[in-house]
Amino acid sequence: MKAFYSIVIFSVLFAVCMAKLTPEQRRELEAKLLSECKGPSGATDDDVKGLREHEVPKTTTGKCLLSCSQEKLGILVDGKLSIDGLKALGAKKHEGNDKAIATFNEIVAECENISDSDACELGAKLMECMLNGAVKRGIDPKEGIQD
Ligand SMILES: *[C@@H]1O[C@H](CO)[C@@H](O)[C@H](O)[C@H]1NC(C)=O
Repeated sequence: MKAFYSIVIFSVLFAVCMAKLTPEQRRELEAKLLSECKGPSGATDDDVKGLREHEVPKTTTGKCLLSCSQEKLGILVDGKLSIDGLKALGAKKHEGNDKAIATFNEIVAECENISDSDACELGAKLMECMLNGAVKRGIDPKEGIQD
């Protein structure tokens, strides 16, 4: 579950850098993203830790931290889910693997109607939906979609 969501978190980093990153570089960029969102969302250190471990946040501030990260990733735009943004990230992450991209897009399609007037709640709902879609397909959450 954790690793699957990391696809969503990290895909942008591939999109931005257009190059494979080492795990260390990814962790650094993830930390940067979360630190940029920490202040605006009022998140606690525990909220940050939970998200770094890719747990669906339970606290309001944790949900807002997630939502802020998703906005920076182009997954949430103006308080709404961007299906195109999400698919673009999946495509970057799985570039060259049409099967993995198709699976990713299938899961995205199941989450296309996720909505909430509260952007923070929306972020948490989206994360939960994507995780459920992966688990339902027997994707080992620790492995993510295999390349
Ligand atoms: C999303 O909503 C549209 C329009 O109501 C509907 O046609 C579609 O089946 C819904 N998708 C899912 C995955 O529920």
